[in-house]
Amino acid sequence: MASKTAVTIKAAGSGAGNAPSKAGAPGDSYAPLDSAHFREAMSRIVTAVHILTTDGPAGRLGATVSAVCSVSDDPPSILVCVNRASRVHAAILKNRVYCVNTLQPNHQALSDAFAGRGNLDMDARFAMADWTSLATGCPGLKDASLSIDCEVFSITEMGTHSVIIGTVADVRMSDEDRSLVYIRRGYHSVSK
Ligand SMILES: Cc1cc2nc3c(=O)[nH]c(=O)nc-3n(C[C@H](O)[C@H](O)[C@H](O)COP(=O)(O)O)c2cc1C
Repeated sequence: MASKTAVTIKAAGSGAGNAPSKAGAPGDSYAPLDSAHFREAMSRIVTAVHILTTDGPAGRLGATVSAVCSVSDDPPSILVCVNRASRVHAAILKNRVYCVNTLQPNHQALSDAFAGRGNLDMDARFAMADWTSLATGCPGLKDASLSIDCEVFSITEMGTHSVIIGTVADVRMSDEDRSLVYIRRGYHSVSK
């Protein structure tokens, strides 16, 4: 049976703005959704905040990311969605390894720096914290809640981003019970 993978998103009270259009080519079944409206909708999803790192022939780089998800425990694997225009994306493709470092509430300045705020160069960003080399050689943030060190398994392009699935080579966890979360473009702290 043929399956259809269209997603409709409607803002409350927005009227018929996203009403289905006439059937056409795949992905053409609905009126175009304004990307700013979509980003606003996505900002309502509470997420953990992570520093994505990589090291290898392309050098040591990092970026702040929230689009991270567990994929399977057999084999242990996670995915991360990375903008293809970012420097860390090019580096991961060459290094073939990455590490997801989940942040604690005291890491807001680090998150901002690795998101490009303040325009620090990469060495200055890494100099803001202590790092250790994990199994793949990726930088693990020493006081992260969690570091998941991965080898690249697959890369799927979707629009501006790549969905990068990695198989897990190393995991480090701390006993810290507070996490940094991001919702509606602001940081918050949650405790278990
Ligand atoms: C809280 C937060 C979450 C982010 N999540 C992602 C993400 O999941 N994927 C992504 O590609 N960029 C994400 N970004 C944006 C990147 O951090 C930023 O574009 C990147 O560091 C810039 O890369 P550049 O140094 O190559 O310019 C996020 C930024 C913030 C502040």
